[in-house]
Amino acid sequence: MMAVSHIVGSGSYLPERVVTNDELARMVDTSDSWIIERTGIRRRHIAAEGELTSDLAYRAALKALEDAEIEAADIDLIVLATATPDNTFPATAARVQAMLGMNKGAAFDLQAVCSGFVYALAVADNFIRMGQARTALVIGAETFSRILDWTDRSTCVLFGDGAGAVVLKAGETRSLNAAGRERGILSTHLHSDGKLYDLLHTDGGPSRSQTVGLVRMQGREVFRHAVVNLAAVVHEALTANGLTADDIDWLVPHQANKRIIDGTAKKLGLSPKQVVTTIAEHANTSAASLPLALDTAVRDGRIQPGHLILLEAMGGGMTWGASLVRW
Ligand code: UT7
Repeated sequence: MMAVSHIVGSGSYLPERVVTNDELARMVDTSDSWIIERTGIRRRHIAAEGELTSDLAYRAALKALEDAEIEAADIDLIVLATATPDNTFPATAARVQAMLGMNKGAAFDLQAVCSGFVYALAVADNFIRMGQARTALVIGAETFSRILDWTDRSTCVLFGDGAGAVVLKAGETRSLNAAGRERGILSTHLHSDGKLYDLLHTDGGPSRSQTVGLVRMQGREVFRHAVVNLAAVVHEALTANGLTADDIDWLVPHQANKRIIDGTAKKLGLSPKQVVTTIAEHANTSAASLPLALDTAVRDGRIQPGHLILLEAMGGGMTWGASLVRW
């Protein structure tokens, strides 16, 4: 019988320093009211000098392991989603593996920008389903502040730093019933369209220019694709499980823009009370945004055993994806 992945713990970490919209308004031609009205963002956390993606990832991972009540020695897979690795290589996951004292299995990074966590969850879930891993750590961690052009108001106000992690554990499947009452990750759905590469990219990279490059985005176009593609992939996930939007207890969306989140919730007929929204406090933390939001709602008691959770994200590539999880 195929194994199923259970999420048995979650954790997150945000750097100490908080930067408000008013502080940004002193650096670029913007205002608190523009940022709140167009994005829903009020503040963001920014990593301290010398604080790296691996440091944020490590702290989030420790909390997830503590929550799951397991030791690092029990983990046999780390998949770390990031667009801001410590170094071009090796993988930041390898650094985190050493920091945790994990001594077996495999650790690697995965690059799908803001969709990174859904992609990493899908990869780890498939390793577990196929019996190639028993206990996996899935991390989304970013220091996006390091690749922002702090003179470009159309991007620098949107992003923040942070990390989130979950622990997946192999469990036995009961036979799936029609109503999708099975616990664990019910399914994952991934998409990309490389023709849209230029809509959201960095203007450098090791192969292109021997530099890291800075974020460039055609915001309005990304917005347009996000609304359409997220609706499609959410529909795909529900249909694949014989479920409808009425079955969803919590929508945990990627936190890029409150208007995109509200639009998706409205299309699904969900009340704003069923949507986990952390964008006001965290801004867009790219691959960290989903696990940060998920961990927030688990720790404050909103997400309870038996609840059906819909995760979705959209990012550079373009990439997008969704997952249904029965908690
Ligand atoms: O996480 C990966 C996925 N990313 C996303 O999903 C982001 C999707 N895009 C968005 O969230 C929105 O497009 C933005 C928040 C980036 C921009 O909002 P918008 O409503 O699409 O604004 P816009 O780009 O159409 O710009 C409207 C105006 C422009 O001025 P003009 O040309 O009308 O005079 C911009 O120059 O707002 C101006 N503007 C700003 N004004 C004050 C752009 N950025 C700012 C700013 N402060 N920070």
